[in-house]
Amino acid sequence: MSSVKFLAFADLHHYPEVFYTFAPERLAAIRQRAIDEKVDFVISLGDFGGGKPLDLLAEYAAFPMKTYHVFGNHDTDNMTLTEAIKAFDMPGKGYYFFDCNGFRFIILDNNYVNIDGSILHFELGNYFPHPNTREILPAEQVDFLKETVGASPYPCILFSHSSIERECDQTPGRPFRSAIINRQEIIDVINQANSRSPGKVRMAINGHYHRDFLRILDQVVFLDLNSASMEWVNNPHDHFDRELTAKHTYAANTVIYNEPLCAVITLDHDGTLQIDGMKGSFYKNVTREMTDNPPCDRSGRPCTANIQSVKMKMFYR
Ligand SMILES: [Fe+2]
Repeated sequence: MSSVKFLAFADLHHYPEVFYTFAPERLAAIRQRAIDEKVDFVISLGDFGGGKPLDLLAEYAAFPMKTYHVFGNHDTDNMTLTEAIKAFDMPGKGYYFFDCNGFRFIILDNNYVNIDGSILHFELGNYFPHPNTREILPAEQVDFLKETVGASPYPCILFSHSSIERECDQTPGRPFRSAIINRQEIIDVINQANSRSPGKVRMAINGHYHRDFLRILDQVVFLDLNSASMEWVNNPHDHFDRELTAKHTYAANTVIYNEPLCAVITLDHDGTLQIDGMKGSFYKNVTREMTDNPPCDRSGRPCTANIQSVKMKMFYR
């Protein structure tokens, strides 16, 4: 087998009565696309839900192909880490790897916060008061990454909820500054592996920011994967019906995608990389620009209801 094909989605945010994401319908459409595209597996890039989304987790686990999770920051907001590991059926502590069709997929868990010198996993909202010391890849995971890439006979793809390529804005109190604080350590592992063996780490995919952005750095393709459901806006708007916002606590703090945005990604050993994205639209035509919020995030990336489609060939030499 020289190629692998998988479906990736992020930030489904199934949280009944809090968000209006009609997530069960979205997940059913994602399932159907995965079947139609005959993918080898499906992966959720985190923030699958809020509360305790046990019913939908069971639906996901029952897909007719293998399914995987990456932990997002909100996945342990209403569960302990131990409960979440069980509910999500996470191998080990939440970081792990698997091999498929001659590629290695490495799942990282960057949901850690430094509180008074202790590095703690996000749990029951403990990270909320610490916006400037959150999103860390603990040393044991940096070592795990180094060893797992180093021992791999295959090209590697990384998954994390937060971005490895976004710059980390340290300005206190800024929303969405939460790139991984020690991202440079991860980039060093990637670049050292690629300098020894070009094409060893080929791609890294993240969710979390609800943005569609593609960047190539040192021959690694970084995909900032859009949310499958919606975008958060700090300042609420009044464009939705009152009935809807009365029933859903934070609906007015969102603009919502009509489509279940997801990407089918095909990688070939010869360096070909194809992303089949989706063009979508906004619920009630309400866009972020119509709300009282800056149009772009701290990295200057706009909110669109799209995932771009791309076919490229990388030459590793
Ligand atoms: Fe997130």
